[in-house]
Amino acid sequence: MKLPYVFINMAMTADGKIATANRAVSTFSSKYDFEHLLELRASADAVMSGARTVNEQVVNLGPGPAKFRRLRLQSGLAEYNLRVIVSGSGSMNPHAEIFCHRFSPIIILTTGRAAERKLERLRAVADAVKTLGENEIDFRGAFEWLGAKWNVQRLLCEGGGELNGALFRAGLVNELHLTICPKIFGGRNAPTIADGTGVRHLAGATRLRLKSMKRVGDELFLVYDALKSATSGKAGGLKL
Ligand SMILES: NC(=O)c1ccc[n+]([C@@H]2O[C@H](COP(=O)([O-])OP(=O)(O)OC[C@H]3O[C@@H](n4cnc5c(N)ncnc54)[C@H](OP(=O)(O)O)[C@@H]3O)[C@@H](O)[C@H]2O)c1
Repeated sequence: MKLPYVFINMAMTADGKIATANRAVSTFSSKYDFEHLLELRASADAVMSGARTVNEQVVNLGPGPAKFRRLRLQSGLAEYNLRVIVSGSGSMNPHAEIFCHRFSPIIILTTGRAAERKLERLRAVADAVKTLGENEIDFRGAFEWLGAKWNVQRLLCEGGGELNGALFRAGLVNELHLTICPKIFGGRNAPTIADGTGVRHLAGATRLRLKSMKRVGDELFLVYDALKSATSGKAGGLKL
């Protein structure tokens, strides 16, 4: 079955962090980078984030101002993108900011680990709650389902590190957009663009090919093709 084209967009410091270790700071890039984020959203059918990102940040994962919604319509997309939250244990807070914005469906992907009582609370606020996998999300199955049921052809993942790490390990990432910001956070527990269990051997690493590079002020905007999955050993996005 055809999988959506999956692209990740992240901002990181020069020492590779996406937030401070205490999680107090996670927005640190320029206005230009924020426009860039909205432009990427304007090319996606769905925008996806992990439960911790959506719980910790004030985010709605939506398309933003009218000019970006017009851009979507001009390119044949729905005016508002779908929103997808990944929450394997159902830890997603049903009172999070995102649920106050009802402009497009909110879909929660979860696993058999999530207790029924948590799922009930999430079903009350989300448009769909889908269980795929016992302990870990079966992302391949999830993306097939998003394609077949919700017609998702381009899926933008906006982190955080644990979710990105799982997608790289599953070999499901096609493209990485990375903004390198001129700051150092330090902190061994500060999240990075790909966390979770990681790979054990060099052969398992996802290989990237630099597609484009742009400097704006002191920020660097990099775009990579993701060539190979860490754990599946199957070719990544280029063949999809
Ligand atoms: N600089 C940037 O561009 C940027 C972008 C996004 C986020 N951030 C920052 O990154 C931090 C969050 O990153 P994070 O790595 O801690 O969290 P995350 O990836 O946003 O969310 C982690 C949660 O997502 C679910 N999840 C992820 N992978 C899963 C899998 N394979 N199977 C099942 N569930 C899975 C789990 O939810 P359950 O607990 O419900 O199981 C897990 O606890 C925040 O500080 C945020 O502000 C920065």
